Amino acid sequence: MENFELYIGTKIFFGQGQIDKLSENIAFYGKNVLFVYGGGSIKKLGLYDKVLKQLEGLNVFELRGVEANPKITSVYQGVKLCREHNVDVILAVGGGSVIDCSKVIAAAVYYEGDAWDMVRTRSPIKKALPLCTVSTLAATGSEMDAGAVVVNSQTNEKISVFSHEIVPKVSIIDPSYTFTVSAEQTAAGCADIMSHLLEQYFVPKSTFMADLLVESVMKTVIHYADTAIKEPNNYEARAQIMWASEMADNSILSNGNQMAVFGVHGMEHQLSGRFNTTHGVGLAILTPRWMKYVLSETTVGRFAHYGTAVWGIDENLDRYEIAKKAIEATAGFFKGLDIPQTLTEIGVNPEQFEEMAKKAEEYGTAHAWVPLYAKDIAEIYRMSL
Ligand code: NZQ
Ligand code: ZN
Repeated sequence: MENFELYIGTKIFFGQGQIDKLSENIAFYGKNVLFVYGGGSIKKLGLYDKVLKQLEGLNVFELRGVEANPKITSVYQGVKLCREHNVDVILAVGGGSVIDCSKVIAAAVYYEGDAWDMVRTRSPIKKALPLCTVSTLAATGSEMDAGAVVVNSQTNEKISVFSHEIVPKVSIIDPSYTFTVSAEQTAAGCADIMSHLLEQYFVPKSTFMADLLVESVMKTVIHYADTAIKEPNNYEARAQIMWASEMADNSILSNGNQMAVFGVHGMEHQLSGRFNTTHGVGLAILTPRWMKYVLSETTVGRFAHYGTAVWGIDENLDRYEIAKKAIEATAGFFKGLDIPQTLTEIGVNPEQFEEMAKKAEEYGTAHAWVPLYAKDIAEIYRMSL
């Protein structure tokens, strides 16, 4: 078992009606609040009014219209508002994009240069404004983790930053807010959760307990995804998927493992950064092709372990047979979500594959479980057409 550091700095209020806890928790951090949200889903949901009620008596400044796959230009606007109004605390209400944008704003307020330089150079984040969140979509786990991803449309780059400083202080996670999430976004969210689990399962060295923990959350997603998509108001399914999304990315499950860079995420960010692909859709397309590509004498044992533990495949079969069945089962899970299954379907053509592959490698895919270099990545993109 490897040494590890664990910082879970988020106070979680999970369940229906927990919005009532927002007022006192925000006020704890100060009077001036930057309220960040997306393109309007929170208004349709009636959540916007509930949040304003909780913020009564505080000075509220709004940053609205944060895009899915959030842009650095929204970060610039947020930083400006924070500086102009001496903001004490940021409140992000929405999905991963709104929360990620808010995290980068929180850090960039204290960064002397251009916020994009902070992201691009992965400048260590030493200080950030406190951030509270109200989550409305089960997918990224951003409401309880240290990561944030933003896009620069000028340079076609999507880059992630990590720091304990940007972990939200407080997150209200009410699964009933996800009742209005469309079938496609729900499915993409489930694909993202599954991908986070797979990316921390296929690592250089895992441990007994971590394997069991990750497998249990995978089984939870496999069990509830279909119900959450087909019965959008099914609270239990929404709640299980939402808590799975937090567990899948807050690092608790895989403590003690020898970790690696999330390689499929590295390849996917080239899609959502350039073509505005929905993150989970990109992952659902790439993951089974990546599995096929990296299956080898070195990796077959791990795939076979996954096949028997997660998909219940007969352990007496040949290792390669189990591994191939496991990859088929994974592809079947993504197909069952009823989201696009090829890059062609989402309008991505091969012209930019070589350049995308080079960029993905630059951001660390050579340090994935099976190292992925530009030539490997370009081939996986081609397999995904
Ligand atoms: O903008 P609004 O109107 O709010 O609509 C959003 C958006 O169009 C809508 N939505 C959100 N909650 C809703 C809702 N619609 C109806 N009812 C609700 N309750 O859903 C659309 C997608 O929202 P978005 O926030 O983009 O989705 P998600 O939560 O999947 O976030 C994706 C972003 O997070 C990044 C992804 O790369 C992508 O940029 N990631 C962040 C991570 C992290 N911070 O740890 C890790 C992930 O691997 C991922 O990279
Ligand atoms: Zn993800």
